[in-house]
Amino acid sequence: MNTEITIIRPDDWHLHLRDGDMLAAVLPSTAKIYGRAIVMPNLIPPVTTVKLAEEYRKRIIDARPEGSDFKPLMTCYLTDTTSPEEIKAAYAVKAFHAVKLFPAGATTNSESGVTDIANVYPVLETMQEIGLPLSVHGEVVDPEVDIFDREAVFINRVLEPLRKDFPELKIVFEHLTSKEGVDYVFEQDKNMVATITPHHLYLTRNDLFSGGLNPYMYCLPIAKTFADRKAVRKAAVSGDERFFLGTDSAPHPARIKEKSKAAAGIFNAPTSIGYVTQFFEEMNALDKLEGFTSIYGARFYGFSPNSSTITLAKRDKPVEIDWQLKSGGDVVKIFKPGIPLYWELVD
Ligand code: DOR
Ligand code: ZN
Repeated sequence: MNTEITIIRPDDWHLHLRDGDMLAAVLPSTAKIYGRAIVMPNLIPPVTTVKLAEEYRKRIIDARPEGSDFKPLMTCYLTDTTSPEEIKAAYAVKAFHAVKLFPAGATTNSESGVTDIANVYPVLETMQEIGLPLSVHGEVVDPEVDIFDREAVFINRVLEPLRKDFPELKIVFEHLTSKEGVDYVFEQDKNMVATITPHHLYLTRNDLFSGGLNPYMYCLPIAKTFADRKAVRKAAVSGDERFFLGTDSAPHPARIKEKSKAAAGIFNAPTSIGYVTQFFEEMNALDKLEGFTSIYGARFYGFSPNSSTITLAKRDKPVEIDWQLKSGGDVVKIFKPGIPLYWELVD
């Protein structure tokens, strides 16, 4: 017998949609499930101005499947030279819903990011004043720091001083992966929230090496230990409003994943809500699913939850899909952890 669950339509509070052929290929998967998404600005060149954000927003709207009213919520790529005036002007016309801090060199297309947090203090001052959230890729780039410790070290070196200097600044600690990160957010107040990805609910660093080096399990921040995953899982099902879904779905063509120096990023959009639902069921926490996927994030960003619903069904047999999409002449592979998927969207 099939089990079904109906929830308020979710939103994705952290998403990479790319541009051009890739945008056209991946957007339908997200638009089918989610009402809105916070769209990451790490294009080449990055989305650093109101004008670039508005043009990108239009391209996304144009790429939507027929009949979709999916709403992209644009973000600004913070650089050493972002001006407080640009941010103020953007705020007045609601052009940005968050400003994204990529420490320069931390991840894919982060080369134009911030080299020293002190450089952006005037912008942060303005954001604190107007209530615009700072979305944070929370990893240090110091090559002397072990890659598995980069999130924890970021808390001490960057976040703690930032919280002291800007206690009213709204901060989203994106894609939490470590116990230190989870503990830190729990200790803070309502101005500090965090997104959690579907893949970090499933993966540990073992998955990177299981059966051979696997680039499809590689993203940043990198998956960590079992203890870290346990902490992230607990936060997701805690019912605490400060933790909500951001898929960090980040497509790359197979030819960029299956080579030396494979790109970081996991494309999970098509199976994201299925795997998240399956995880909540396994944790006996289906009653907490809707808050995590459809309510808490909306509240933080100042929106009402979506007015429509979605329905998911649990199948008796693993869901069979083609685990890849075509993008122009490329193939993009869909996140497939070692566990079969039983839940799928039916309405
Ligand atoms: O794994 C990642 N991929 N982490 C990021 O922070 C960026 C993303 C991407 O854009 O591919
Ligand atoms: Zn991301």
